[in-house]
Amino acid sequence: MEKFNKIIALLMAIANFAKDIHYNVSGSAAYSKHLFADLLQDDVYDFIDEIKENVFLAAEELPLASGKYLEMAIPLIPEIAEDDKVSFERIRGLIEKTNKALEEIKEAPSRGAGSLLDSISEHLDKCLGLLFLQVRKVSSVNEEFKKEENEGQAERPVDREKAEWTPINREEVANTVKKYEAQNLLVAEDTLDKLSKRLGV
Ligand SMILES: [Fe+2]
Repeated sequence: MEKFNKIIALLMAIANFAKDIHYNVSGSAAYSKHLFADLLQDDVYDFIDEIKENVFLAAEELPLASGKYLEMAIPLIPEIAEDDKVSFERIRGLIEKTNKALEEIKEAPSRGAGSLLDSISEHLDKCLGLLFLQVRKVSSVNEEFKKEENEGQAERPVDREKAEWTPINREEVANTVKKYEAQNLLVAEDTLDKLSKRLGV
């Protein structure tokens, strides 16, 4: 049951740190970040309740007193950072740690407990996915262009009005599709045909 105590403490740390972020976000998109931080601790207290009832009580064992769990959780709560992105990275680390602790439980005491652990894991995976979007480095086309322009190698973007129509052949279309596929962008199987039809090539 020691491993389940650890999961409870980790979940408490996630919920508390998510609330710290919830109240501390600032700057652009502050309101979205405020709401997102809340989503990160959605369901967490329900999971804690279910571990205590479906795992401990079902095995005729009492969970620890809440003070004990708090004691275990406090050192796990990261410090809030001035930069929201850093705080989001810290909660990501905490969630990854929790996922690892879940994986360490190789055999759940019952089928129900196993499915509860899976649900927790699923929730944490969703959080990790959304956190990836929140903290990833964005290098937009505009930023790339500015960078290249500063380095003196950028070509001006094409003025659509004045641009000359250049006929595109099937091979060019195929190469473009291949290029996007190489960059792991999703291209539907029939894209090439659709493109070819529209271009009449
Ligand atoms: Fe709130």
